[in-house]
Amino acid sequence: MLKALMGVLVAGTMLSATTAKADEISIVAGSIGKDIEELRSQLDAFQAASGHKVEIVTMPASTTDQFGQYRLWLSAGNKDVDVYRTDVIWAPQLASNLLDLTDAMKDVVGEHSASVIASQTVDGKLVAMPLFADAPALYYRKDLLEKYGKTVPATWAELTATAKEIQDKEREAGNPQMNGFVFQGAAYEGLTCDALEWVASNGGGQIVSPEGDVTINNPKAAAALDMAHGWVGTIAPAGVTGYMEEEARGVWQTGNAVFMRNWPYAFPLGNGDDSPIKGKFDAVPLPAGESGQSAACLGGWNLAVSKFSEHPQAAVDLVKFLVSAESQKQRALGTARLPTIASVYDDPEVKEKQPLVAKWKTVFENATPRPSAPTKTKYNEVSQQFWTAVNKTLAGQGDGATNLDALEKQLRRLKRSEW
Ligand code: GLC
Repeated sequence: MLKALMGVLVAGTMLSATTAKADEISIVAGSIGKDIEELRSQLDAFQAASGHKVEIVTMPASTTDQFGQYRLWLSAGNKDVDVYRTDVIWAPQLASNLLDLTDAMKDVVGEHSASVIASQTVDGKLVAMPLFADAPALYYRKDLLEKYGKTVPATWAELTATAKEIQDKEREAGNPQMNGFVFQGAAYEGLTCDALEWVASNGGGQIVSPEGDVTINNPKAAAALDMAHGWVGTIAPAGVTGYMEEEARGVWQTGNAVFMRNWPYAFPLGNGDDSPIKGKFDAVPLPAGESGQSAACLGGWNLAVSKFSEHPQAAVDLVKFLVSAESQKQRALGTARLPTIASVYDDPEVKEKQPLVAKWKTVFENATPRPSAPTKTKYNEVSQQFWTAVNKTLAGQGDGATNLDALEKQLRRLKRSEW
């Protein structure tokens, strides 16, 4: 508490020294779970400390929809948005319209994960600061596994078998709504994350290697996608090909799924007082493939200041406030969003009240990045072609090998001689 107060005071002093007047600024952010509610409460603290006023422009949940909108606004020189909440994969694509935060953040940048900072640094320019990291979990129903004498699956094959058995028995026992497994199968960036995990955990690589080679057309990757196709309409609802994070959580949190792949934000929501599955579940790292190890896609969100902001100082001060250890701690406690400052994971209150966050430090540190660094400004197109091929495979329009063969040709065309 004292530390929290001091953080606010320090921020307040800094602001009164650097800004002559109170500014009105805006921050744009997508809405998932309780992110907006929790952002508002932190903005209220910033407003009280700084005298500035901050408005939130709320966006749809899909990161893909947000990216399209932000790219339009930034290329049109929009002055109405000062601070953008940006996905970890966007930095190279938006960099030219974002302020370089290197100087402004020089005292605090060293506290944050070096790899996340590297991912937000484009041609030597630090274009965004880490707000929180993301690394997924396999959520499972403790009560149902116990009821049927099953252990937590360590491989996708085990998950498939356990999900099918429990789903079928629960349906026979009078719960026709029960599903074995829910995940993100819609044609958007989230499917790139899920499918990268299936592929990488089966030893099939990272779509494009860190050196920039197109590696996706291989038998292990194809087998991973065929396995996921086998889930659709058997252990997962046929409609999973349209699910994003919140659709998966909706099914899970009403008690109608044995397993779910989702990010840590779903953990405290599932344990909310109004949740039918409160206390009935836990989470572990995702399963491994037949020929690989568990792989977690590296996600996360950052804060960037628009080059067109008319209040850059207030915007920078806001970013500093929201990425601080104190704000990251509050965010971890409230919404289980993973800190990018290592010491926050060791905070006794975080350990006690949000044990998933404390446990997820190593999952985050070992997470697999999407190929946004090697494919630079073409990442969105690469990802779009990948998620389209995967979504088609899930829906049975061509098998893994056929669709990955076509994808490889498309990606090579996109790459030409270099990215
Ligand atoms: C989460 C991740 C983000 C990812 C998105 C996909 O929000 O933090 O990095 O792109 O999910 O849906």
